[in-house]
Amino acid sequence: MNGTESRIRTHVKGLDERIGGGIPAGFTVLICGPSGSLKSSLAFNILYHSSKDQGLGGLYLSVEQSKESLLGQASSLGLSMENVDTLNVVDLAKLRRESRKSEEENLIVTLQDLLAKYNEEFDLQLLAIDSLDALYALSTLKNPRNEIFRFFEALRDLKLTSFLVSEMPREGGSFGKYGVEEFLSDGIIHLRLREVEVGRTTSVRRFIGIAKMRGTKHELDYYPLLVDKSGFEVLVE
Ligand SMILES: Nc1ncnc2c1ncn2[C@@H]1O[C@H](COP(=O)(O)OP(=O)(O)OP(=O)(O)O)[C@@H](O)[C@H]1O
Ligand SMILES: [Mg+2]
Repeated sequence: MNGTESRIRTHVKGLDERIGGGIPAGFTVLICGPSGSLKSSLAFNILYHSSKDQGLGGLYLSVEQSKESLLGQASSLGLSMENVDTLNVVDLAKLRRESRKSEEENLIVTLQDLLAKYNEEFDLQLLAIDSLDALYALSTLKNPRNEIFRFFEALRDLKLTSFLVSEMPREGGSFGKYGVEEFLSDGIIHLRLREVEVGRTTSVRRFIGIAKMRGTKHELDYYPLLVDKSGFEVLVE
């Protein structure tokens, strides 16, 4: 793949054409939003279709949710793992088995070695880490800015296109827990939940916006995001 020109499609109908065909390969991208905003599902959707439709190697590291729970959610969205050969899903239980047990748990450090190993083993192009917050909770961060900087550098050295899931409150808040993540990342996909009044009912709708994408012309609008068994789609006027 030509790293300077090729783009990784989000496989969200209506979105890729609005960001120049997709996300530039090699980028580190935050997927941010509150609980239930489809962060995990979107990250999974990108790796899933990149594998199934294009044969790109992917590693989905689920630090928070068990593999079983993640694949259950994916399957309810029509993303079944049958005939998907180049997508690897690893959860915390497996990570723990494979990391050096004698060390005090500091996942942000041990993960860097493990990722290098997985990268060789699986011939990866795409990586998802779900979530940064869970990774931090299992790490000893004496100087968070420094350690997060090193972690992003390590991801960049792997030359993968990485999607980092980051939890945000429903209203406001920064895109990452320590505030540095948004500056260190190359792109930010922001998922929002907004209340709308529909007659006498208050309904919550999902929106997606590209808050940042280096080297890419994009709008700053937030589009309604729909998902069902036929896939992800943005509604554009
Ligand atoms: N088959 C389905 N069709 C449409 N939406 C679904 C389906 N299955 C689950 N959902 C929605 O997906 C939501 C969960 O999505 P997901 O786990 O990707 O969110 P998240 O942002 O990762 O949340 P968290 O921060 O809790 O991990 C559910 O709350 C539900 O509304
Ligand atoms: Mg999630």
